[in-house]
Amino acid sequence: MRLSFGLACVATLLGLASETNADVYRDPDTGFSFSQYNAPITTGTSYITFRVAIPSPATSGQPYDVVLQVVAPISAGWVGVAWGGSMTNNPLLIGWANGASSMTSIRRATSHTAPTAYTAGSLQLLKKGSKSNGTHWQFTAKCTGCTQFTTTGTTTKSLNPAGSNRLAFAYARTKPSQPSSESSPLNVHDLFNYWEHDFSSAGNAAFQDLVDRNL
Ligand code: HEM
Repeated sequence: MRLSFGLACVATLLGLASETNADVYRDPDTGFSFSQYNAPITTGTSYITFRVAIPSPATSGQPYDVVLQVVAPISAGWVGVAWGGSMTNNPLLIGWANGASSMTSIRRATSHTAPTAYTAGSLQLLKKGSKSNGTHWQFTAKCTGCTQFTTTGTTTKSLNPAGSNRLAFAYARTKPSQPSSESSPLNVHDLFNYWEHDFSSAGNAAFQDLVDRNL
């Protein structure tokens, strides 16, 4: 508890990071209500925050757009989310700092080698939610094609808007070599892990409005 409180204080001061592992985070910059998860990346001192916002209502078994916000310590070179919970055969939404803003890229891999562009999905960077300061950088992006996708062959996976979905993340300390290009080469990650993300508290009734306001 004391650690969480300490983190919350530091985070509030920084203005970028969030309040501990609160289930719901209302972002004053973008207006979205996100459900959030803080992933530890070193023992107890450093976190990457993953926030998910979806439209409300969203129908089970149907594709819906999703807004992902990631807050990473400045020491992180790139951070990616695997929407199907593994590196292979699902959309990988990757982001990194690009000057005062961020760059995002959507890719896919069929093996544990550098992923390539994923043409069945598309991203829109939400500029008002993408920034950096001396300690953290963050990106906010809307993905179309990240909540329903084919995995292998003709198998389709749909993320449940009313429950938990198993996601995976990866992060690398090395920055992409061409930060202003969405197809920049990436170095392999230094860490990956999995978590269950609660989508049932991620709903936003004014989803499209909020997207438009943050472009
Ligand atoms: C330069 C690009 C990349 C290379 C060369 C690469 C390579 C690898 C390798 C060799 C493994 C196996 C590690 C082990 O078993 O110990 C692995 C696992 C993994 N990678 Fe990557 N990776 C890359 C990019 C990414 C990206 C962009 C993501 C996600 C956004 C990602 C997510 C994962 C995950 C979640 C695992 C765990 C195993 C699994 O779920 O498939 N990787 N990667």
